Amino acid sequence: MHFPAPLKSNSVKIMLLGSGELGKEVAIEAQRLGIEVVAVDRYANAPAHQVAHEAHVIDMQNKDEVLDLIRRVNPTYILPEIEAISIDALFEAEKEGFHVIPNAEAVNKTMNRKNIRKFAAEELGLKTSAYRFVSTFEALREAAEAIGYPCVVKPVMSSSGHGQSIARTPEDLEKSWEIAKEARGDASELIVEEFVRFDYEITLLTARNEKETVFCEPIGHEQKDGDYIFSWQPAFMSPEALSKAQTIAKKVTDGLGGRGIFGVELFVKGDEVYFSEVSPRPHDTGMVTLITQSQSEFALHLRAVLGLPLEFTFFTPGASAAYKAKNESVTPIVHVDDKAFSKDSFVRIFGKPESHEGRRMAVLLTMAASETEALAKAKERIGYLDDSAPVTRVVEEHRVESEESCVIKKVFKFIFG
Ligand SMILES: Nc1ncnc2c1ncn2[C@@H]1O[C@H](COP(=O)(O)OP(=O)(O)O)[C@@H](O)[C@H]1O
Ligand SMILES: [Mg+2]
Repeated sequence: MHFPAPLKSNSVKIMLLGSGELGKEVAIEAQRLGIEVVAVDRYANAPAHQVAHEAHVIDMQNKDEVLDLIRRVNPTYILPEIEAISIDALFEAEKEGFHVIPNAEAVNKTMNRKNIRKFAAEELGLKTSAYRFVSTFEALREAAEAIGYPCVVKPVMSSSGHGQSIARTPEDLEKSWEIAKEARGDASELIVEEFVRFDYEITLLTARNEKETVFCEPIGHEQKDGDYIFSWQPAFMSPEALSKAQTIAKKVTDGLGGRGIFGVELFVKGDEVYFSEVSPRPHDTGMVTLITQSQSEFALHLRAVLGLPLEFTFFTPGASAAYKAKNESVTPIVHVDDKAFSKDSFVRIFGKPESHEGRRMAVLLTMAASETEALAKAKERIGYLDDSAPVTRVVEEHRVESEESCVIKKVFKFIFG
């Protein structure tokens, strides 16, 4: 591979559509290889904007704006980093000869739960939770009856848990309908899924180019309110479950095609593995690879995009913990305890220009002899004093208490024994 200098007429140029913390790490990896970086987002001073050669602010859902910018920038590769992008613009760009990562159809399939579910379950024959698609309240009731309670209700177009809820009884359905409606607007559909009582869930990062496919060690994670709060790597799996997980990931990523890294989300129950969903890009739970691997998921993504070899070394078990903002601010400050900066842990601050409650602002990374130890360290150093909440179980139990409530509990325990 030849590496032309950036900012020249012959430079290799990547255009990030979405410039959050994941895009920022991809941009940094690109900078390290002398690749020119153009970062795009819908607000100014997004994390990747701050480390790019060129930054743009546009309405990314607007087909004309996206297409116009693509034509002006003339990138070698277009890397969608979020789901909320005009898919029509990507299809059109591809038609005009631009290289969309991994390809426009894969982006289209994965941004819509209906497309990816039908593709995985019906075309590829993968095991998934039972599901139905509905667009009226009556149909929701029928679907829930057929699937059974509890069931999970999600808008087909949504991410980070928006509009998602669990209906435990028929009485919950109205609330689920309302929650979904708020997030989806009126036009779109809902998916009703069987609630899988999994033992644990994982992300299997899978990188592919034309020549090879590589898997990272499975990543375990804990979700809260539709967002990840802790992840660790490797997640212990039986050899049989691991082999099934890799087979599923290979089928899905081969089916989607193209170059890049994919975050394949799987539920595991005993030796059974259910396909849940897949991101055709680095995955938030995969930030742990910043400490565990010689090549992080971001470096691997870029290598895959460029068609470079995908070899890497798994260095050490590790864990990550997300710093979430507690309030709204236009001058946000991330409070990090000094103990987070030690020989076996460090922090990445995303540099987001504004905070709102629950927004991910930074990540803490730890390493240890085992992932259990690394996770315990991450929990301790980020300030979660919780010693009771179990790590990963079904979503119903996915409740790590807030720092405050834990402190209150401890105080109570201290006073009342
Ligand atoms: N059918 C299901 N059964 C059990 N848990 C589920 C199910 N669907 C989602 N979850 C839980 O909710 C989380 C978020 O759901 P997911 O479909 O991945 O939505 P998002 O696109 O917002 O990430 C999952 O990681 C899992 O913990
Ligand atoms: Mg998910």
